[in-house]
Amino acid sequence: MTALSEMPTEEALNLLRLYVEAGVSENLSDDPVNRYELGAVLDRSAPDAESPARAEPGRGPRQVPVERPSFASPPSSSPQSSSPTSSPAAIPLDAMAEAGTARTIAQGCATLEALREALGAFDACPLKHTAKNLVFADGNPQAQVMLVGEAPGRDEDIQGLPFVGRSGQLLDRMLGAIGLDRTSVYITNVLPWRPPGNRQPTPIEQAMCAPFVERHIELVAPKLLLLVGGVSAKQMLETTTGIMKLRGNWGAVKVGDLEIPALPIFHPAYLLRQPAQKRLAWRDLLNFKAKFDAL
Ligand code: URA
Repeated sequence: MTALSEMPTEEALNLLRLYVEAGVSENLSDDPVNRYELGAVLDRSAPDAESPARAEPGRGPRQVPVERPSFASPPSSSPQSSSPTSSPAAIPLDAMAEAGTARTIAQGCATLEALREALGAFDACPLKHTAKNLVFADGNPQAQVMLVGEAPGRDEDIQGLPFVGRSGQLLDRMLGAIGLDRTSVYITNVLPWRPPGNRQPTPIEQAMCAPFVERHIELVAPKLLLLVGGVSAKQMLETTTGIMKLRGNWGAVKVGDLEIPALPIFHPAYLLRQPAQKRLAWRDLLNFKAKFDAL
């Protein structure tokens, strides 16, 4: 991994910003640390359950803890049980460096076309290598409304367009119910490649793709955002609160100098499984429409 001191200033700053966002609060050395020896010096007695480094001494790359968002799992029927797990996942520092590089690349894109090309050329995210197609966006980039979903599924992967499968058809009907369609909205996902078998993406994959979706939103600069599903809502609102609590409550997404009002809604795939929840979804859509009409 390139040392911070050897990186161009902007890249180094982006990497440091990423560390801070991920909760890194200590300045560690670039040199490897033998934690067996360190542990022996500090305490040879019982392992410290609070310290992951002691639990897995000296093994594998150094890691920083981040909250692990859940992916595409159906929101549970009770708000309590839908809250995210509190166990942190870890992102190896070299993956964090790749995410820092992703941020530098994304920030260097002045247009949507440049961003699409940059994503097409970005090889660091493992999802790219199993996906058939990059799923960049659909709809009207001039629209005042932008939707951010989770990740492409099988149909989207085949067609290279977001929300074209069954849940996409329901999404179109939901938009239609409040007078919107793909000419009046712009649609993308937090992940531009399908996770194989629709599995949960890893925190590394999410961290690597985050700079691109943030720049994507910044370039489109919509007046309002609809965050479709829990993964999108949690990532974009930087929260660990579950969708059962987030839905229907306006938040704000900060990208660059912009702060964009954002409404989390249930994912249509969830509504296909739990049609009774459409009642709440309809209420949220009316909430959204009221704000949209007031623009
Ligand atoms: N689900 C999503 O979140 N996005 C898609 O593009 C398709 C299904």
